Amino acid sequence: TWSAVPAGPPDPILGITEAFKADKDPRRINLGVGAYRDEDGKPYVLNAVKKAEEKISAAKLDKEYLPITGLPGFTSNAAKLAYGAASVPRNQNAIAVTQSISGTGALRIGGAFLARHYPHSKTIYVPSPTWGNHIPLFKDSGLEVKYYRYFDKKTVGLDFEGLKEDLQNAPEGSIVLLHACAHNPTGVDPTQSQWKDISDIVAEKKLFPFFDMAYQGFASGSTDRDAFAVRYFVSQGHQIALSQSFAKNMGLYGERVGAFSLTTANEEERKRVDSQLKIIVRPMYSNPPLHGAHIANTILSDPELYQEWEGEVKGMADRIINMRERLYQLLSNDFRTPGEWSHVKSQIGMFSFTGLNKEQCKVLAEKAHIYMTMDGRISMAGLNGRNIEYFAKSVDAAVRG
Ligand code: PLP
Ligand code: LMR
Repeated sequence: TWSAVPAGPPDPILGITEAFKADKDPRRINLGVGAYRDEDGKPYVLNAVKKAEEKISAAKLDKEYLPITGLPGFTSNAAKLAYGAASVPRNQNAIAVTQSISGTGALRIGGAFLARHYPHSKTIYVPSPTWGNHIPLFKDSGLEVKYYRYFDKKTVGLDFEGLKEDLQNAPEGSIVLLHACAHNPTGVDPTQSQWKDISDIVAEKKLFPFFDMAYQGFASGSTDRDAFAVRYFVSQGHQIALSQSFAKNMGLYGERVGAFSLTTANEEERKRVDSQLKIIVRPMYSNPPLHGAHIANTILSDPELYQEWEGEVKGMADRIINMRERLYQLLSNDFRTPGEWSHVKSQIGMFSFTGLNKEQCKVLAEKAHIYMTMDGRISMAGLNGRNIEYFAKSVDAAVRG
């Protein structure tokens, strides 16, 4: 039956983990997938999460199905975290929100909703480059994917002129995907003043902004600061779509906790939108998983746990920033590696777009047992005090050829 099914390629990101696992060299380092590691290179379960789980276990909750759009306390608190307590649509009961299978599921629900109900376009513009999964995800949702310029190889920074030009030239009403903070894979974000210009173009061209916020707190260490773009757009009167993930900022990766929301004109409109979100979710997976939503909701609704969580998010962000500084020093001062490395320090969030080419990435995997995506992206969180010198030395050797 399946004789005509061709073998597909491994996933460009998750496939790296498979290759890493198969390598038994003690020096091996996995800088592929964006998953936080502590100073010992170990996965990190947050203390706030452990405490929330103890509270949940003590409460002896049942295992009944959640409603189609998820745990109401969770969705309400997730929206508060993203939009802020003072958000106008939030206080008008005008945000439609559903729990989702982490950020990917949120994007997928959003894609499906827009494909079915957004009246002005079926085209979504994504940054070039963007998180690899955005492209098949939106195509599979029924949207056409096009690109706007984002990264400038020459400056290793934002191609702001290119971005503005491409958004200005997009057909009126097009959907535009914006990474809210900590852009994946480049680590390059617009400044607050550039966000204001983007908001003006979006208004002028009547574009529809779809924010992907997978790293709230991971960019600056502050969940409020990282929500700037989302809150600014809403304050300017834009209606937005928003995907949230709690994979990174609560370390809930495999629990698959996320939310998708849409701001609407008023409560009556919100109710209609809500009803259609249910109609999209029900045949996809009926209703979302329970445990992770309880964890996130417990943290978001308990002031003490919330505070501890904020401290831990900042701790993760700060450790990554330290690794950036150390890597920069190693490459630029200790090894005097050919090239300019200041971008390693200035990039934001979980990743650094090193500028290493495909050949160099291959050499690093084959000769040094160091795994990263073939676009030269490294997950900074995979570096620590014990492996960073070996990593920098190996990069130095790969660059010198
Ligand atoms: N969007 C971006 C930009 C990402 O980097 C990720 C990966 O974490 C996601 C969305 C969604 O991930 P998840 O489905 O694990 O929440
Ligand atoms: C990544 O880009 O490494 C993360 O967003 C994880 C993933 O699912 O790709």
